[in-house]
Amino acid sequence: MIAINTTFPIIDRLQSSPVDRDDILTLLTATGALQEELFRRARDMRHTHCGDLVHLRGVIEISNYCQKSCSYCAIRAPNKELDRYRMSAEEILDIAGQIHNTGIRIIFIQAGQDPKCDEILETVIPKIKQQFNTEVLLCLGERSKETYRHFRDLGADSYILKYETSDPVLYEMTALTPLKNRLDCARSIKQVGMKLGVGNIIGLPGQNFESLADDILLGYELEPDFVSASPFIANEHTPYEDSPAGDFNVTLNTMAINRLMHKTCLLPTVSALEKIYPHGQLMGLNAGANVITINFTPSSRRENYAIYSSHRFIVSRDHALHIIQQAGLKAEIFQ
Ligand code: 5AD
Repeated sequence: MIAINTTFPIIDRLQSSPVDRDDILTLLTATGALQEELFRRARDMRHTHCGDLVHLRGVIEISNYCQKSCSYCAIRAPNKELDRYRMSAEEILDIAGQIHNTGIRIIFIQAGQDPKCDEILETVIPKIKQQFNTEVLLCLGERSKETYRHFRDLGADSYILKYETSDPVLYEMTALTPLKNRLDCARSIKQVGMKLGVGNIIGLPGQNFESLADDILLGYELEPDFVSASPFIANEHTPYEDSPAGDFNVTLNTMAINRLMHKTCLLPTVSALEKIYPHGQLMGLNAGANVITINFTPSSRRENYAIYSSHRFIVSRDHALHIIQQAGLKAEIFQ
């Protein structure tokens, strides 16, 4: 039995199981008093289940080679306009040391889907664990269950593999590979014992509200440890380069709905929010987020890591600390 204790029972009902798809559809387009209440309840939920600490991740984008050809992403294999790079173990460990020195204890290693990184990670992951004893979070794309198990055995704690969209037809049109493979990968990540991060992109060409509601329901079904929502950003040298950006409010509403459905999940406020709207990342914190990723990729490399366009918003430590303070929260910094 769910206690209906507000003038917005539709928000209470997000905590019932199964959640009603029509309720999600209504809340995705919430504006005015309903949206304010949705965000307020998401903040309350965060306070109750996660406390007021915002987790900081330091990301190192170790390679921009990619086997895939996702239509929204400039590091897609067919893009010849990009200088490709793959960092050495020394370069990665040096940056990991910088992340550790700033008091951040989640080292986030991201790359295109580039299996040639595996040999480098063979040394890098155990060394990070030995030298810094931080959490190691990976985002390296679709791999075999054995590879995921090996990453776990090397010391990796967690892995992000977003499903991007729950619509199999739209997924295949966008990423040119089957959604089923990706979901099998997500399940394998959990099965081998790593924490799982999932999420969707909001505003992909061809997407509709029904499919965005299904994205949220799929996220719930996968029982992830982290769940994200990012607005689509048009990227130069991609088939979607002229498409409009994803809707800012729909993204914030998705985040707040996710917070209310997942309660204890880590929920990032992504840099793409800041790119499409002034103070967008702060507004993400106000919609229930509790993670910020700070970019530690050296600037010479960064311009070629064009996932959210070459002019993406680069999150610095100062920016993160500033918005955390503005949101009345505390940054998780270790001295
Ligand atoms: N717009 C929005 N999200 C993007 N990503 C990559 N490119 C874009 C884009 N143009 C996200 C995808 C991917 C993650 C690494 O970055 O969700 O999984």
